[in-house]
Amino acid sequence: MSGPNTDYDPVEVTPLKAEEVEAMREAAFAAIAAASDLEELKQVRTEHTGDRSPLALANREIRALPPQARKEAGQRVGQARGAVSKALAARQVVLEAEHEERMLVEEAVDVTLPTARTPRGARHPLTTGAELIADIFVAMGWEVAEGPLVEAEWLNFDALNLGPDHPARTMQDTFWTEPPENHLVLRTHTSPVQARTMLTRRPPIYVVCPGRVFRTDEYDATHSPMFHQVEGLVVDEGITMAHLKGSLDHFATAMFGEGITTRFRPSYFPFTEPSAEVDLVCFVCRGREPDVATCRTCRGEGWIEWGGCGVVNPRVLVACGVDPERYTGFAFGMGIDRTLMFRHGIGDLRGFFEGDVRFTTAFGTEI
Ligand code: DAH
Repeated sequence: MSGPNTDYDPVEVTPLKAEEVEAMREAAFAAIAAASDLEELKQVRTEHTGDRSPLALANREIRALPPQARKEAGQRVGQARGAVSKALAARQVVLEAEHEERMLVEEAVDVTLPTARTPRGARHPLTTGAELIADIFVAMGWEVAEGPLVEAEWLNFDALNLGPDHPARTMQDTFWTEPPENHLVLRTHTSPVQARTMLTRRPPIYVVCPGRVFRTDEYDATHSPMFHQVEGLVVDEGITMAHLKGSLDHFATAMFGEGITTRFRPSYFPFTEPSAEVDLVCFVCRGREPDVATCRTCRGEGWIEWGGCGVVNPRVLVACGVDPERYTGFAFGMGIDRTLMFRHGIGDLRGFFEGDVRFTTAFGTEI
């Protein structure tokens, strides 16, 4: 085995010459500076620092040098490799920042651009609202009854104890149809469905009748010539006003929440005797001091007018073929639109009828 080659002149080992190492370093620097993106820099890293890079190969040559020459050559190559690594790291930072900036620009989303999405349709809030109301009664075992919008004058008025000369007949402003001898009206309330039901079913009767009604009203924030009512009718043995009160309290609470019940005020309707106006506990101030005093919704009353009701007039039972000696009943009627306005804090009734999706989508997209 030969000993170390002490005569060996390191200057003769070409890759370790100062200018050679310097050239390698310069070449690496130039390549690093020329790398224009992270992908290119990766390539440069392999070429100038990888196992087969000139500096790595030069590093391997050091082992062949005599000990006294190794130090100098080692330092030279080590410094060059260190400088290249540093330059690579610095360039990496710059290119990463550039990359990030480019991505931000390229991936920026212009939220003001028009979208190509087709909005999902939904059923109208009056439809879903009427169903919600009907469901409250269906859950108690009632049935849903319906009648036509163009109604016989007799069912809209006479059967309900509103005879031709009855003063109450003018309480409702009626749309009459041509020719007059057909005696057809656009129904002014859902009450004719009461008569239709009694004429076609035998008691016990428990029905709720939501539907569209028409009156020659001005069109404004609280009136419309077309609106919606829900009618309730119960005919059974032993029915009293107490059943009516309990049913309406349940309806009110189901619609407006715990604590919202009703009160009755004496009133007059030809089809009920006795009759009452139904008021709701004000759903804003709940009738409580001190809020009630300044409440703008109920104007300090603590109560809001909701609809009409009463014990079915025996004359109506007779007109519809029900034995008033055996059966009694109760009935009520209120505006669906008005009820939903209360429930959703809607200030203008017209929102329901004008087809602006900004109004209707606020109710969600229930199908
Ligand atoms: N039909 C009445 C109206 O439109 C409302 C009404 C009041 C209905 C009393 C009823 C009732 O069933 O018992 O003004």
